[in-house]
Amino acid sequence: MRMDPVLHSELLDRWRAFAEQPGHPFTIPGHKHRAGEVWPELGAVNDGDVPLFGGIGPMKQATAVLAEAEARTAAAWGADWCRYGTGGSTQANQAVALAVGQPGDEVLVVRNAHRSLLSGLIMAGLTPIWLTPDVADGLLLGIAPETVRAAIEAHPRAKALFLVEPSYVGTMSDREAIIRIAHDAGIPVVVDQAWGAHLGFHEELPAHALAIGADALVFSAHKTLPAYSQASIVFARTERLDPDRLERGFEAGNTTSPAGSILASIDAATILLRSPEGHALLGDLLGRAENARQRLRAAGLTVPGPETHRMDPAKLVVRLPHGGGLAIERRLLELGLGPEQAEESMLVPILTMLDDPAAVERLVDVIVEEALRLAALAQGARPGSLSEPKASRRDAVARPPLPPARMTPRDAFFAPHATVAAAAALGRISTEIIAPYPPGIPVLVPGEEITEATLTELRAARAAGVRIAYAADATLETFQVVAGSHS
Ligand SMILES: Cc1ncc(COP(=O)(O)O)c(C=O)c1O
Repeated sequence: MRMDPVLHSELLDRWRAFAEQPGHPFTIPGHKHRAGEVWPELGAVNDGDVPLFGGIGPMKQATAVLAEAEARTAAAWGADWCRYGTGGSTQANQAVALAVGQPGDEVLVVRNAHRSLLSGLIMAGLTPIWLTPDVADGLLLGIAPETVRAAIEAHPRAKALFLVEPSYVGTMSDREAIIRIAHDAGIPVVVDQAWGAHLGFHEELPAHALAIGADALVFSAHKTLPAYSQASIVFARTERLDPDRLERGFEAGNTTSPAGSILASIDAATILLRSPEGHALLGDLLGRAENARQRLRAAGLTVPGPETHRMDPAKLVVRLPHGGGLAIERRLLELGLGPEQAEESMLVPILTMLDDPAAVERLVDVIVEEALRLAALAQGARPGSLSEPKASRRDAVARPPLPPARMTPRDAFFAPHATVAAAAALGRISTEIIAPYPPGIPVLVPGEEITEATLTELRAARAAGVRIAYAADATLETFQVVAGSHS
């Protein structure tokens, strides 16, 4: 498929001109576009590498060209500040965290926030007030507006509200209601839309967060758009956020040698997204996603979608309450169709506007074949083996209240730590983040006390075959705690 030549990106043109005729600049990068002469594979991997400075343009010119492109993209999203990032949504989340308050300030944060935001809070010295999202039947849903209202009433001086919309599994909150509640209290809303760069550019897609009033929006262009790995954008409307602090926050984590290749791909991918060609590609994606959901459901699988949940309709999530996800993943990997995430009870293959339709059909065929094969096996198996519903056992465990926060995440991060056996960890302060997947909501974050209830919840999740993410010891035999911390 070739795109209409009307599509145009100044950054992309400059990238191509330099990649085709680099000359022999006496600048970085050190490969000088000649690595292929000594090692062809190294040349192949380096060849498209064009630096921003000295490649996209000489130093001063490159800065201006990039700023112009960012300003155009800001206008297209209704923002008045925008930076293209080469460090993923990770860098973008950290940039915003560094911009919203002073060390010691409180911020409201959804508990399913990505760990990059947690590290941003640690860098910025902010104290999170956690908001727990709703979970139904093991599926992470959004955050209830009442949860936000109650948190604001209890913490009216909070400096910002951080949301993740859509969640990793595509589910969304009533964002409009939440943003209204926060704004009524004068609190800016930052939305990590890492998985939703495509939102807002097709009539069947939910609006993007800035269009419904959010103050800042972060997304990974590389996740759902045809952009280079690491590509991200952070946007803001600066009525409630300070543009100078945003700029400083962004530059604090920005490399001084950005890859022009990544920046050009961000520019071109977002130009494509908002073009008629992009609209058509998004329509095709939505059709493929809906068709996949229907075929999987017809085979008896549980597949949430926009008819059953408030959800990104481009997302495909296959739920396997009887387990088998890892076996299906193995088969998909053998066939070169590996999913983005696979757990015993859930598969998340990422669909984008550039999927080969035949590959999506094949993906669905294989999931259905394998699920049916596993179900047949399970019927012949002893009760309690393959047929044991794994996720639902975990669902039976009530979520205890969050453990008490005895230190800020920052203080726990910098404190001397010790590794102790589980029995000795009770009453100690965690230096780790530990999150069972699914639903991916941390049971412990740095600074929180390890209680009987948290241990019970983590052990129940592990016994149910749920992956224990981020823990230094996923067997839960040992924990990393603040040295000398005792209740
Ligand atoms: C919600 C969320 N935010 C941020 C990130 C970080 O994105 P990146 O990998 O682009 O740094 C991720 C990564 O998966 C994510 O799921």
